[in-house]
Amino acid sequence: MCGIFGYMGKSNAPYIIHQGLKRLEYRGYDSWGISTIEKGNIVTTKDTGHIPESIKLKTNPTTVGIGHTRWATHGGVTITNAHPHYSTDRSFVLAQNGIVENYTELKAYLEKLGYIFDTQVDTEVIVKLVEHELKTTKTLREALIKAFKQLEGRNTVILLDSKSGQILAIRNGSPLILGVKEKDIYLASDPLAFNQYCRDIVEINNGEMIEIKDGKYKLFDIKKDKYINRKPREEKLLEIDIDKEKYEHYMIKEIVEQQHTILKATEYTQKQLQPFIKRLKETENIYTIGAGTAGFSADQIAYYLRKIGKKNAISIKSYETESYLENISPNDTVIAISQSGETADTLEAVEILKERGVYIASIINMPGSTLSRLSNSYFMSNAGSEICVASTKVFTSQISFGYLLSKTLVGEYTDAKRELRTISNNLEDFFSKKTFKQIENISKVLKEKEHFFVLGKGQNFHIAQEGALKIKEISYKHFEGFAAGELKHGVIALIEEGTPVLSIVSNDKNVKDLISATQEVKARGALTIGIGDKQDTDCFDYFIEVAKSNDLKAISNVIPFQLISYYLAKELGNNIDKPRNLAKSVTVK
Ligand code: AGP
Repeated sequence: MCGIFGYMGKSNAPYIIHQGLKRLEYRGYDSWGISTIEKGNIVTTKDTGHIPESIKLKTNPTTVGIGHTRWATHGGVTITNAHPHYSTDRSFVLAQNGIVENYTELKAYLEKLGYIFDTQVDTEVIVKLVEHELKTTKTLREALIKAFKQLEGRNTVILLDSKSGQILAIRNGSPLILGVKEKDIYLASDPLAFNQYCRDIVEINNGEMIEIKDGKYKLFDIKKDKYINRKPREEKLLEIDIDKEKYEHYMIKEIVEQQHTILKATEYTQKQLQPFIKRLKETENIYTIGAGTAGFSADQIAYYLRKIGKKNAISIKSYETESYLENISPNDTVIAISQSGETADTLEAVEILKERGVYIASIINMPGSTLSRLSNSYFMSNAGSEICVASTKVFTSQISFGYLLSKTLVGEYTDAKRELRTISNNLEDFFSKKTFKQIENISKVLKEKEHFFVLGKGQNFHIAQEGALKIKEISYKHFEGFAAGELKHGVIALIEEGTPVLSIVSNDKNVKDLISATQEVKARGALTIGIGDKQDTDCFDYFIEVAKSNDLKAISNVIPFQLISYYLAKELGNNIDKPRNLAKSVTVK
Protein backbone atom coordinates (compact mmCIF):
# COMPACT_ATOMS: atom_id res chain seq x y z
CA MET A 1 0.00 0.00 0.00
CA CYS A 2 1.06 3.66 -0.03
CA GLY A 3 1.92 5.44 -3.23
CA ILE A 4 5.21 7.12 -4.01
CA PHE A 5 5.72 9.79 -6.65
CA GLY A 6 8.75 11.81 -7.72
CA TYR A 7 9.22 14.34 -10.49
CA MET A 8 12.04 16.38 -12.00
CA GLY A 9 11.54 18.23 -15.25
CA LYS A 10 10.38 21.32 -17.10
CA SER A 11 6.83 21.47 -15.75
CA ASN A 12 5.33 22.60 -12.49
CA ALA A 13 6.32 19.87 -10.03
CA PRO A 14 3.62 20.49 -7.36
CA TYR A 15 0.89 20.16 -10.01
CA ILE A 16 2.39 17.01 -11.59
CA ILE A 17 2.89 15.41 -8.16
CA HIS A 18 -0.66 16.24 -7.07
CA GLN A 19 -2.07 14.70 -10.25
CA GLY A 20 0.17 11.65 -9.79
CA LEU A 21 -0.90 11.15 -6.19
CA LYS A 22 -4.58 11.39 -7.18
CA ARG A 23 -3.92 8.52 -9.59
CA LEU A 24 -2.12 6.58 -6.87
CA GLU A 25 -4.81 7.15 -4.27
CA TYR A 26 -6.16 3.63 -4.81
CA ARG A 27 -3.04 2.45 -2.93
CA GLY A 28 -4.01 4.28 0.25
CA TYR A 29 -5.90 7.39 1.20
CA ASP A 30 -5.36 7.91 4.91
CA SER A 31 -3.17 10.97 4.40
CA TRP A 32 -0.86 12.55 1.85
CA GLY A 33 2.11 14.87 1.49
CA ILE A 34 4.03 16.79 -1.17
CA SER A 35 7.56 18.18 -0.78
CA THR A 36 9.36 20.43 -3.23
CA ILE A 37 12.57 22.46 -3.21
CA GLU A 38 12.16 26.19 -3.19
CA LYS A 39 15.16 28.53 -3.03
CA GLY A 40 17.26 25.73 -1.57
CA ASN A 41 14.72 24.77 1.13
CA ILE A 42 12.30 21.89 1.25
CA VAL A 43 8.68 23.02 1.50
CA THR A 44 6.10 20.42 2.47
CA THR A 45 2.31 20.36 2.42
CA LYS A 46 0.62 17.45 4.26
CA ASP A 47 -2.87 16.56 5.32
CA THR A 48 -5.00 13.66 6.48
CA GLY A 49 -7.85 12.17 4.48
CA HIS A 50 -8.37 11.97 0.73
CA ILE A 51 -6.26 14.10 -1.57
CA PRO A 52 -8.54 17.01 -2.57
CA GLU A 53 -9.36 17.62 -6.24
CA SER A 54 -7.44 20.87 -6.10
CA ILE A 55 -5.05 21.87 -3.38
CA LYS A 56 -3.55 25.04 -2.09
CA LEU A 57 0.08 24.14 -1.63
CA LYS A 58 2.52 25.99 0.56
CA THR A 59 4.93 25.88 -2.35
CA ASN A 60 5.30 27.97 -5.52
CA PRO A 61 5.86 26.52 -8.98
CA THR A 62 9.11 24.58 -8.99
CA THR A 63 10.55 21.74 -11.04
CA VAL A 64 11.48 19.02 -8.55
CA GLY A 65 9.66 17.25 -5.76
CA ILE A 66 8.29 14.06 -4.26
CA GLY A 67 4.91 12.99 -2.91
CA HIS A 68 3.28 10.21 -0.96
CA THR A 69 -0.20 8.88 -0.31
CA ARG A 70 -0.39 6.82 2.86
CA TRP A 71 -2.09 3.67 4.09
CA ALA A 72 -1.17 3.59 7.76
CA THR A 73 0.80 0.63 9.11
CA HIS A 74 2.74 2.05 12.08
CA GLY A 75 1.19 5.01 13.85
CA GLY A 76 -2.22 6.64 13.57
CA VAL A 77 -3.56 8.75 10.75
CA THR A 78 -2.22 12.19 11.70
CA ILE A 79 -0.53 15.05 9.88
CA THR A 80 2.66 14.37 11.87
CA ASN A 81 2.73 10.74 10.73
CA ALA A 82 2.03 11.64 7.08
CA HIS A 83 5.02 11.36 4.71
CA PRO A 84 7.46 12.77 3.57
CA HIS A 85 9.49 13.03 6.80
CA TYR A 86 12.22 15.59 7.40
CA SER A 87 15.75 14.92 8.57
CA THR A 88 16.69 16.74 11.78
CA ASP A 89 18.51 19.50 9.88
CA ARG A 90 15.60 19.64 7.36
CA SER A 91 18.04 19.17 4.49
CA PHE A 92 16.26 16.10 3.13
CA VAL A 93 12.85 14.42 3.28
CA LEU A 94 12.05 10.76 2.84
CA ALA A 95 8.89 8.78 2.07
CA GLN A 96 8.45 5.01 2.17
CA ASN A 97 6.23 2.23 0.91
CA GLY A 98 6.48 -0.95 2.95
CA ILE A 99 7.07 -2.07 6.50
CA VAL A 100 10.41 -1.98 8.30
CA GLU A 101 10.08 -5.36 9.96
CA ASN A 102 13.04 -4.80 12.32
CA TYR A 103 11.69 -1.37 13.25
CA THR A 104 11.63 -2.06 17.02
CA GLU A 105 15.28 -3.15 17.14
CA LEU A 106 16.46 -0.29 14.92
CA LYS A 107 14.51 2.29 16.90
CA ALA A 108 15.94 1.01 20.21
CA TYR A 109 19.45 1.12 18.71
CA LEU A 110 19.01 4.69 17.48
CA GLU A 111 17.42 5.86 20.73
CA LYS A 112 20.39 4.50 22.61
CA LEU A 113 22.56 6.65 20.38
CA GLY A 114 20.52 9.68 21.42
CA TYR A 115 18.15 10.10 18.45
CA ILE A 116 14.74 11.49 19.41
CA PHE A 117 11.65 10.39 17.54
CA ASP A 118 8.76 12.75 16.82
CA THR A 119 6.38 10.36 15.06
CA GLN A 120 5.10 6.80 15.46
CA VAL A 121 5.96 5.74 11.91
CA ASP A 122 8.63 3.20 10.98
CA THR A 123 9.74 5.61 8.23
CA GLU A 124 11.33 7.88 10.82
CA VAL A 125 13.69 5.03 11.70
CA ILE A 126 14.97 5.12 8.11
CA VAL A 127 15.43 8.90 8.23
CA LYS A 128 17.40 8.71 11.49
CA LEU A 129 19.42 5.75 10.23
CA VAL A 130 20.42 7.74 7.13
CA GLU A 131 21.42 10.67 9.34
CA HIS A 132 23.46 8.34 11.48
CA GLU A 133 25.22 6.73 8.52
CA LEU A 134 25.92 10.18 7.10
CA LYS A 135 28.31 10.77 9.99
CA THR A 136 30.68 8.15 8.61
CA THR A 137 30.06 8.36 4.86
CA LYS A 138 31.03 10.97 2.32
CA THR A 139 27.73 11.33 0.49
CA LEU A 140 24.02 11.12 1.17
CA ARG A 141 23.64 8.38 -1.45
CA GLU A 142 26.20 6.26 0.36
CA ALA A 143 24.44 6.86 3.68
CA LEU A 144 21.08 5.93 2.15
CA ILE A 145 22.49 2.69 0.73
CA LYS A 146 24.08 1.76 4.06
CA ALA A 147 20.86 2.52 5.94
CA PHE A 148 18.69 0.72 3.39
CA LYS A 149 20.75 -2.47 3.66
CA GLN A 150 19.88 -2.65 7.37
CA LEU A 151 16.12 -2.67 6.74
CA GLU A 152 14.20 -5.94 6.87
CA GLY A 153 10.98 -6.38 4.91
CA ARG A 154 9.70 -5.23 1.54
CA ASN A 155 10.56 -1.55 1.43
CA THR A 156 10.90 1.11 -1.21
CA VAL A 157 12.04 4.59 -0.28
CA ILE A 158 12.29 7.93 -2.04
CA LEU A 159 14.40 10.83 -0.81
CA LEU A 160 14.54 14.48 -1.84
CA ASP A 161 17.77 16.32 -1.00
CA SER A 162 17.81 20.12 -0.89
CA LYS A 163 21.62 20.37 -0.88
CA SER A 164 22.24 18.52 -4.16
CA GLY A 165 18.76 19.05 -5.61
CA GLN A 166 18.53 15.35 -6.38
CA ILE A 167 15.99 12.59 -5.89
CA LEU A 168 17.24 9.21 -4.72
CA ALA A 169 15.09 6.09 -4.49
CA ILE A 170 15.76 2.41 -3.75
CA ARG A 171 13.45 -0.48 -4.41
CA ASN A 172 13.08 -3.74 -2.54
CA GLY A 173 9.74 -5.51 -2.95
CA SER A 174 7.32 -2.62 -3.07
CA PRO A 175 7.02 -1.48 -6.69
CA LEU A 176 8.82 1.47 -8.27
CA ILE A 177 9.01 2.45 -11.91
CA LEU A 178 10.67 5.27 -13.82
CA GLY A 179 9.09 7.20 -16.68
CA VAL A 180 11.17 9.29 -19.08
CA LYS A 181 10.14 11.88 -21.64
CA GLU A 182 12.97 14.05 -22.85
CA LYS A 183 13.98 16.14 -19.83
CA ASP A 184 10.95 15.10 -17.76
CA ILE A 185 11.59 12.24 -15.33
CA TYR A 186 8.84 10.59 -13.32
CA LEU A 187 9.16 8.05 -10.55
CA ALA A 188 6.12 6.23 -9.14
CA SER A 189 4.81 3.10 -7.47
CA ASP A 190 2.70 2.48 -10.55
CA PRO A 191 3.10 3.78 -14.13
CA LEU A 192 -0.62 4.68 -14.07
CA ALA A 193 0.49 7.71 -12.08
CA PHE A 194 2.32 9.23 -15.05
CA ASN A 195 1.12 7.45 -18.18
CA GLN A 196 -0.85 10.53 -19.26
CA TYR A 197 2.54 12.22 -19.82
CA CYS A 198 4.90 9.49 -20.91
CA ARG A 199 5.02 5.91 -22.15
CA ASP A 200 8.73 5.18 -21.99
CA ILE A 201 9.54 3.36 -18.81
CA VAL A 202 12.59 1.97 -17.09
CA GLU A 203 12.00 -0.98 -14.81
CA ILE A 204 13.68 -0.79 -11.43
CA ASN A 205 14.43 -4.15 -9.89
CA ASN A 206 14.84 -5.10 -6.26
CA GLY A 207 18.14 -3.88 -4.90
CA GLU A 208 18.47 -1.06 -7.42
CA MET A 209 18.82 2.63 -6.71
CA ILE A 210 17.76 5.44 -8.96
CA GLU A 211 19.50 8.82 -8.83
CA ILE A 212 17.82 11.77 -10.56
CA LYS A 213 19.83 14.96 -10.95
CA ASP A 214 19.99 17.82 -13.46
CA GLY A 215 17.32 16.23 -15.65
CA LYS A 216 19.19 12.92 -15.95
CA TYR A 217 18.82 9.57 -14.24
CA LYS A 218 21.34 6.91 -13.23
CA LEU A 219 20.59 3.37 -12.13
CA PHE A 220 22.81 1.70 -9.54
CA ASP A 221 22.89 -1.90 -8.32
CA ILE A 222 23.38 -1.62 -4.57
CA LYS A 223 24.29 -5.30 -4.15
CA LYS A 224 26.89 -5.47 -6.92
CA ASP A 225 27.99 -1.90 -6.21
CA LYS A 226 27.97 -0.79 -9.85
CA TYR A 227 26.04 1.42 -12.26
CA ILE A 228 23.66 -0.23 -14.74
CA ASN A 229 22.89 0.95 -18.23
CA ARG A 230 19.18 0.35 -18.87
CA LYS A 231 17.49 2.23 -21.68
CA PRO A 232 13.82 3.22 -21.49
CA ARG A 233 11.38 1.03 -23.40
CA GLU A 234 7.87 1.78 -24.51
CA GLU A 235 5.25 -0.09 -22.49
CA LYS A 236 1.64 -0.63 -23.45
CA LEU A 237 0.10 0.59 -20.22
CA LEU A 238 -3.46 0.35 -19.01
CA GLU A 239 -5.48 3.51 -19.61
CA ILE A 240 -7.34 4.74 -16.55
CA ASP A 241 -10.94 5.10 -17.58
CA ILE A 242 -11.85 7.96 -15.26
CA ASP A 243 -15.15 8.62 -16.99
CA LYS A 244 -18.03 7.43 -14.77
CA GLU A 245 -20.35 7.98 -17.75
CA LYS A 246 -23.96 8.04 -16.56
CA TYR A 247 -23.16 6.27 -13.29
CA GLU A 248 -22.98 7.80 -9.84
CA HIS A 249 -20.08 5.57 -8.74
CA TYR A 250 -17.32 3.53 -10.37
CA MET A 251 -18.57 0.45 -8.55
CA ILE A 252 -21.95 0.33 -10.29
CA LYS A 253 -20.32 1.16 -13.64
CA GLU A 254 -17.85 -1.68 -13.17
CA ILE A 255 -20.61 -4.11 -12.09
CA VAL A 256 -22.60 -3.40 -15.26
CA GLU A 257 -19.49 -3.67 -17.45
CA GLN A 258 -19.22 -7.35 -16.57
CA GLN A 259 -21.46 -8.38 -19.43
CA HIS A 260 -18.59 -7.27 -21.71
CA THR A 261 -15.52 -7.90 -19.56
CA ILE A 262 -16.17 -11.63 -19.15
CA LEU A 263 -15.88 -11.87 -22.94
CA LYS A 264 -12.75 -9.70 -23.09
CA ALA A 265 -11.05 -11.93 -20.52
CA THR A 266 -11.71 -14.98 -22.65
CA GLU A 267 -10.77 -13.66 -26.10
CA TYR A 268 -7.81 -16.08 -26.22
CA THR A 269 -7.84 -18.40 -29.20
CA GLN A 270 -7.27 -22.15 -28.83
CA LYS A 271 -3.93 -21.66 -30.53
CA GLN A 272 -2.88 -19.05 -27.97
CA LEU A 273 -3.91 -21.29 -25.09
CA GLN A 274 -2.33 -24.40 -26.56
CA PRO A 275 1.19 -24.20 -25.01
CA PHE A 276 -0.24 -23.66 -21.53
CA ILE A 277 -2.88 -26.36 -21.97
CA LYS A 278 -0.10 -28.76 -22.97
CA ARG A 279 1.78 -27.84 -19.83
CA LEU A 280 -1.32 -28.32 -17.65
CA LYS A 281 -1.98 -31.72 -19.20
CA GLU A 282 1.54 -32.83 -18.40
CA THR A 283 1.71 -31.29 -14.96
CA GLU A 284 1.21 -33.40 -11.86
CA ASN A 285 -0.60 -30.93 -9.59
CA ILE A 286 -1.89 -27.44 -10.17
CA TYR A 287 -1.77 -24.94 -7.33
CA THR A 288 -3.80 -21.75 -7.59
CA ILE A 289 -2.88 -18.88 -5.30
CA GLY A 290 -4.28 -15.45 -4.50
CA ALA A 291 -5.44 -13.27 -1.62
CA GLY A 292 -8.77 -11.64 -0.77
CA THR A 293 -11.10 -11.63 -3.76
CA ALA A 294 -8.29 -13.03 -5.91
CA GLY A 295 -8.02 -15.80 -3.29
CA PHE A 296 -11.68 -16.72 -3.83
CA SER A 297 -11.03 -16.55 -7.51
CA ALA A 298 -8.16 -19.00 -7.00
CA ASP A 299 -10.59 -21.28 -5.09
CA GLN A 300 -13.17 -21.12 -7.88
CA ILE A 301 -10.60 -21.70 -10.63
CA ALA A 302 -9.21 -24.73 -8.75
CA TYR A 303 -12.81 -25.97 -8.46
CA TYR A 304 -13.24 -25.71 -12.26
CA LEU A 305 -9.87 -27.35 -12.92
CA ARG A 306 -10.88 -30.31 -10.72
CA LYS A 307 -14.52 -30.60 -11.67
CA ILE A 308 -14.31 -29.79 -15.38
CA GLY A 309 -10.60 -30.10 -16.21
CA LYS A 310 -10.17 -33.37 -14.25
CA LYS A 311 -6.88 -32.20 -12.77
CA ASN A 312 -5.64 -32.33 -9.21
CA ALA A 313 -5.96 -28.62 -8.46
CA ILE A 314 -5.38 -27.19 -5.00
CA SER A 315 -6.13 -23.62 -4.02
CA ILE A 316 -3.89 -21.95 -1.46
CA LYS A 317 -4.18 -18.49 0.05
CA SER A 318 -0.99 -16.59 -0.82
CA TYR A 319 -0.32 -15.79 2.84
CA GLU A 320 -0.66 -19.47 3.84
CA THR A 321 1.64 -21.11 1.33
CA GLU A 322 4.37 -21.98 3.82
CA SER A 323 3.18 -25.47 4.80
CA TYR A 324 2.73 -26.41 1.11
CA LEU A 325 6.11 -25.21 -0.14
CA GLU A 326 8.01 -28.43 0.54
CA ASN A 327 5.49 -30.40 -1.50
CA ILE A 328 5.29 -28.18 -4.56
CA SER A 329 7.81 -29.39 -7.12
CA PRO A 330 8.99 -28.39 -10.61
CA ASN A 331 6.60 -31.08 -11.91
CA ASP A 332 3.72 -28.92 -10.72
CA THR A 333 2.30 -25.67 -12.05
CA VAL A 334 1.34 -22.66 -10.00
CA ILE A 335 -1.30 -20.24 -11.24
CA ALA A 336 -1.09 -16.93 -9.35
CA ILE A 337 -4.15 -14.71 -9.55
CA SER A 338 -4.00 -10.99 -8.94
CA GLN A 339 -5.74 -7.91 -10.27
CA SER A 340 -2.83 -5.59 -9.54
CA GLY A 341 0.03 -8.04 -9.89
CA GLU A 342 1.59 -6.23 -6.93
CA THR A 343 0.08 -7.96 -3.89
CA ALA A 344 2.96 -8.55 -1.45
CA ASP A 345 1.60 -11.87 -0.10
CA THR A 346 1.27 -13.28 -3.60
CA LEU A 347 4.60 -11.93 -4.84
CA GLU A 348 6.45 -13.35 -1.87
CA ALA A 349 5.00 -16.83 -2.43
CA VAL A 350 5.76 -16.63 -6.15
CA GLU A 351 9.35 -15.50 -5.53
CA ILE A 352 10.00 -18.50 -3.25
CA LEU A 353 8.38 -20.97 -5.64
CA LYS A 354 10.22 -19.56 -8.63
CA GLU A 355 13.51 -19.99 -6.86
CA ARG A 356 12.61 -23.65 -6.41
CA GLY A 357 12.16 -24.02 -10.14
CA VAL A 358 8.36 -24.18 -10.11
CA TYR A 359 6.60 -22.97 -13.27
CA ILE A 360 4.54 -19.84 -12.55
CA ALA A 361 1.66 -18.73 -14.71
CA SER A 362 -0.40 -15.75 -13.67
CA ILE A 363 -3.75 -14.15 -14.36
CA ILE A 364 -3.38 -10.39 -13.99
CA ASN A 365 -5.16 -7.21 -14.98
CA MET A 366 -2.26 -4.75 -14.82
CA PRO A 367 0.18 -4.82 -17.72
CA GLY A 368 3.80 -4.41 -16.71
CA SER A 369 3.15 -5.41 -13.09
CA THR A 370 5.77 -7.16 -10.98
CA LEU A 371 3.87 -10.46 -11.10
CA SER A 372 3.84 -10.41 -14.90
CA ARG A 373 7.61 -9.98 -14.88
CA LEU A 374 8.12 -12.81 -12.37
CA SER A 375 5.90 -15.27 -14.23
CA ASN A 376 6.96 -17.81 -16.85
CA SER A 377 3.75 -16.97 -18.68
CA TYR A 378 0.78 -14.74 -17.96
CA PHE A 379 -2.77 -14.11 -19.16
CA MET A 380 -4.32 -10.67 -19.08
CA SER A 381 -7.81 -10.31 -17.62
CA ASN A 382 -8.39 -7.36 -19.99
CA ALA A 383 -11.07 -5.92 -17.73
CA GLY A 384 -9.82 -2.35 -18.19
CA SER A 385 -9.11 -0.20 -15.19
CA GLU A 386 -11.05 -1.16 -12.08
CA ILE A 387 -11.15 1.96 -9.97
CA CYS A 388 -13.52 0.97 -7.16
CA VAL A 389 -11.42 -0.57 -4.39
CA ALA A 390 -13.81 -3.53 -4.13
CA SER A 391 -13.17 -5.84 -7.02
CA THR A 392 -16.17 -6.83 -9.15
CA LYS A 393 -15.47 -7.09 -12.87
CA VAL A 394 -11.94 -8.39 -12.41
CA PHE A 395 -13.22 -11.24 -10.21
CA THR A 396 -15.65 -12.44 -12.90
CA SER A 397 -12.99 -11.96 -15.59
CA GLN A 398 -10.59 -14.17 -13.65
CA ILE A 399 -13.09 -16.96 -13.09
CA SER A 400 -14.31 -16.76 -16.71
CA PHE A 401 -10.75 -17.35 -17.84
CA GLY A 402 -10.34 -20.23 -15.35
CA TYR A 403 -13.51 -21.76 -16.73
CA LEU A 404 -12.28 -21.41 -20.34
CA LEU A 405 -8.99 -23.01 -19.39
CA SER A 406 -10.70 -25.95 -17.66
CA LYS A 407 -13.06 -26.58 -20.57
CA THR A 408 -10.21 -26.33 -23.09
CA LEU A 409 -8.32 -28.98 -21.10
CA VAL A 410 -11.05 -31.48 -21.92
CA GLY A 411 -11.53 -30.36 -25.53
CA GLU A 412 -14.60 -28.19 -24.88
CA TYR A 413 -13.23 -24.78 -25.85
CA THR A 414 -16.09 -24.00 -28.25
CA ASP A 415 -18.68 -25.04 -25.70
CA ALA A 416 -17.09 -22.70 -23.13
CA LYS A 417 -17.14 -19.78 -25.55
CA ARG A 418 -20.82 -20.44 -26.26
CA GLU A 419 -21.63 -20.51 -22.55
CA LEU A 420 -19.75 -17.24 -22.01
CA ARG A 421 -21.71 -15.56 -24.82
CA THR A 422 -24.99 -16.88 -23.39
CA ILE A 423 -24.33 -15.52 -19.96
CA SER A 424 -23.12 -12.21 -21.38
CA ASN A 425 -26.40 -11.82 -23.33
CA ASN A 426 -28.47 -12.80 -20.32
CA LEU A 427 -26.64 -10.33 -18.11
CA GLU A 428 -27.75 -7.56 -20.44
CA ASP A 429 -31.38 -8.38 -19.59
CA PHE A 430 -30.57 -8.88 -15.91
CA PHE A 431 -29.16 -5.34 -15.52
CA SER A 432 -32.61 -3.80 -15.72
CA LYS A 433 -34.40 -1.10 -13.73
CA LYS A 434 -36.54 -3.88 -12.25
CA THR A 435 -33.50 -5.76 -10.88
CA PHE A 436 -31.89 -2.61 -9.49
CA LYS A 437 -35.16 -1.59 -7.79
CA GLN A 438 -35.67 -5.04 -6.27
CA ILE A 439 -32.13 -5.14 -4.85
CA GLU A 440 -32.41 -1.57 -3.62
CA ASN A 441 -35.62 -2.50 -1.75
CA ILE A 442 -34.03 -5.60 -0.19
CA SER A 443 -31.05 -3.48 0.86
CA LYS A 444 -33.43 -1.12 2.70
CA VAL A 445 -34.59 -4.13 4.77
CA LEU A 446 -31.04 -5.39 5.35
CA LYS A 447 -29.85 -1.94 6.43
CA GLU A 448 -31.47 -2.44 9.84
CA LYS A 449 -29.58 -5.72 10.52
CA GLU A 450 -26.02 -6.29 11.71
CA HIS A 451 -25.10 -9.98 11.21
CA PHE A 452 -25.73 -11.95 8.02
CA PHE A 453 -24.96 -15.44 6.78
CA VAL A 454 -24.51 -16.59 3.22
CA LEU A 455 -24.82 -20.27 2.32
CA GLY A 456 -23.50 -21.96 -0.80
CA LYS A 457 -22.42 -25.39 -1.94
CA GLY A 458 -20.38 -26.90 -4.77
CA GLN A 459 -20.02 -24.33 -7.54
CA ASN A 460 -21.50 -21.70 -5.19
CA PHE A 461 -19.45 -22.31 -2.05
CA HIS A 462 -16.70 -19.82 -2.88
CA ILE A 463 -19.29 -17.46 -4.32
CA ALA A 464 -20.90 -17.36 -0.85
CA GLN A 465 -17.50 -16.36 0.56
CA GLU A 466 -16.75 -13.76 -2.12
CA GLY A 467 -20.34 -12.43 -1.91
CA ALA A 468 -19.97 -11.97 1.85
CA LEU A 469 -16.56 -10.30 1.45
CA LYS A 470 -17.95 -7.87 -1.11
CA ILE A 471 -20.73 -6.75 1.21
CA LYS A 472 -18.41 -6.48 4.23
CA GLU A 473 -15.97 -4.30 2.31
CA ILE A 474 -18.43 -1.59 1.37
CA SER A 475 -21.30 -1.81 3.86
CA TYR A 476 -19.15 -2.58 6.96
CA LYS A 477 -21.87 -5.05 8.00
CA HIS A 478 -20.89 -8.44 9.35
CA PHE A 479 -21.49 -10.92 6.53
CA GLU A 480 -20.08 -14.47 6.65
CA GLY A 481 -20.10 -16.91 3.78
CA PHE A 482 -20.27 -20.64 4.58
CA ALA A 483 -20.53 -23.98 2.92
CA ALA A 484 -24.17 -24.92 3.50
CA GLY A 485 -22.92 -28.24 4.88
CA GLU A 486 -21.25 -26.38 7.75
CA LEU A 487 -24.51 -24.93 9.03
CA LYS A 488 -25.57 -27.81 11.27
CA HIS A 489 -22.05 -28.21 12.62
CA GLY A 490 -22.07 -24.92 14.48
CA VAL A 491 -23.21 -21.84 12.55
CA ILE A 492 -26.88 -22.55 13.22
CA ALA A 493 -26.31 -21.60 16.87
CA LEU A 494 -26.13 -17.98 15.69
CA ILE A 495 -29.53 -17.97 14.01
CA GLU A 496 -32.26 -16.14 15.91
CA GLU A 497 -35.47 -14.31 15.11
CA GLY A 498 -34.85 -12.02 12.13
CA THR A 499 -31.24 -13.09 11.34
CA PRO A 500 -30.83 -12.67 7.58
CA VAL A 501 -29.63 -15.79 5.77
CA LEU A 502 -28.88 -15.58 2.05
CA SER A 503 -28.89 -18.96 0.27
CA ILE A 504 -27.42 -19.44 -3.19
CA VAL A 505 -29.62 -21.89 -5.04
CA SER A 506 -28.82 -23.17 -8.50
CA ASN A 507 -30.64 -25.82 -10.44
CA ASP A 508 -27.94 -28.38 -9.81
CA LYS A 509 -27.64 -31.49 -7.68
CA ASN A 510 -27.12 -29.37 -4.51
CA VAL A 511 -30.39 -27.50 -4.71
CA LYS A 512 -32.24 -29.80 -2.30
CA ASP A 513 -29.52 -29.39 0.34
CA LEU A 514 -29.74 -25.62 0.05
CA ILE A 515 -33.51 -25.62 0.36
CA SER A 516 -33.34 -27.93 3.41
CA ALA A 517 -30.75 -25.64 5.00
CA THR A 518 -32.97 -22.64 4.31
CA GLN A 519 -35.99 -24.44 5.83
CA GLU A 520 -33.91 -25.20 8.93
CA VAL A 521 -32.91 -21.58 9.47
CA LYS A 522 -36.42 -20.38 8.67
CA ALA A 523 -37.80 -22.73 11.34
CA ARG A 524 -35.56 -20.81 13.77
CA GLY A 525 -36.88 -17.42 12.74
CA ALA A 526 -34.35 -16.39 10.06
CA LEU A 527 -35.19 -13.84 7.41
CA THR A 528 -34.51 -15.86 4.26
CA ILE A 529 -33.28 -14.53 0.93
CA GLY A 530 -32.75 -16.80 -2.04
CA ILE A 531 -30.34 -15.88 -4.84
CA GLY A 532 -30.13 -18.03 -7.95
CA ASP A 533 -32.38 -19.98 -10.30
CA LYS A 534 -36.12 -19.67 -9.70
CA GLN A 535 -37.42 -22.25 -7.19
CA ASP A 536 -40.84 -23.69 -6.53
CA THR A 537 -40.80 -23.30 -2.75
CA ASP A 538 -42.19 -20.91 -0.17
CA CYS A 539 -39.15 -21.01 2.10
CA PHE A 540 -37.78 -17.67 0.92
CA ASP A 541 -39.01 -14.32 2.22
CA TYR A 542 -37.31 -12.66 -0.76
CA PHE A 543 -35.91 -14.14 -3.95
CA ILE A 544 -33.49 -12.60 -6.46
CA GLU A 545 -33.65 -14.45 -9.76
CA VAL A 546 -30.30 -14.27 -11.52
CA ALA A 547 -29.22 -14.16 -15.18
CA LYS A 548 -29.66 -17.61 -16.75
CA SER A 549 -26.59 -19.75 -17.29
CA ASN A 550 -25.75 -23.43 -17.68
CA ASP A 551 -22.52 -24.22 -15.88
CA LEU A 552 -21.20 -20.71 -15.18
CA LYS A 553 -23.63 -19.99 -12.38
CA ALA A 554 -20.82 -18.57 -10.27
CA ILE A 555 -20.94 -15.44 -12.41
CA SER A 556 -24.72 -15.02 -12.38
CA ASN A 557 -24.81 -15.63 -8.65
CA VAL A 558 -22.02 -13.34 -7.49
CA ILE A 559 -23.46 -10.27 -9.22
CA PRO A 560 -26.52 -9.85 -6.91
CA PHE A 561 -24.08 -9.76 -3.97
CA GLN A 562 -22.13 -7.01 -5.67
CA LEU A 563 -25.39 -5.12 -6.15
CA ILE A 564 -26.52 -5.66 -2.54
CA SER A 565 -23.12 -4.39 -1.45
CA TYR A 566 -23.57 -1.29 -3.60
CA TYR A 567 -27.14 -0.45 -2.59
CA LEU A 568 -26.59 -1.23 1.10
CA ALA A 569 -23.54 1.04 1.22
CA LYS A 570 -25.53 3.73 -0.58
CA GLU A 571 -28.36 3.44 1.94
CA LEU A 572 -25.82 3.73 4.74
CA GLY A 573 -24.10 6.73 3.17
CA ASN A 574 -20.70 5.01 2.97
CA ASN A 575 -17.88 5.96 0.63
CA ILE A 576 -18.59 3.35 -2.03
CA ASP A 577 -15.53 3.60 -4.26
CA LYS A 578 -13.05 4.16 -1.44
CA PRO A 579 -14.21 2.22 1.61
CA ARG A 580 -12.61 2.84 4.98
CA ASN A 581 -9.32 1.13 5.89
CA LEU A 582 -8.93 -0.57 2.50
CA ALA A 583 -6.56 -0.04 -0.40
CA LYS A 584 -6.83 -1.47 -3.88
CA SER A 585 -3.32 -2.80 -3.99
CA VAL A 586 -2.02 -4.48 -0.84
CA THR A 587 1.72 -4.10 -1.26
CA VAL A 588 2.59 -4.73 2.38
CA LYS A 589 2.31 -7.95 4.34
C1 AGP B 1 -11.11 -6.98 -3.47
O1 AGP B 1 -12.39 -6.46 -3.35
C2 AGP B 1 -10.17 -6.50 -2.46
N1 AGP B 1 -9.82 -5.15 -2.71
C3 AGP B 1 -9.01 -7.43 -2.13
O2 AGP B 1 -9.50 -8.55 -1.47
C4 AGP B 1 -8.11 -7.88 -3.29
O3 AGP B 1 -8.75 -8.84 -4.07
C5 AGP B 1 -6.82 -8.48 -2.74
O4 AGP B 1 -6.18 -7.50 -1.99
C6 AGP B 1 -5.90 -9.02 -3.80
O5 AGP B 1 -5.55 -8.02 -4.70
P1 AGP B 1 -4.95 -8.38 -6.11
O6 AGP B 1 -6.04 -9.00 -6.90
O7 AGP B 1 -4.50 -7.08 -6.68
O8 AGP B 1 -3.83 -9.33 -5.87
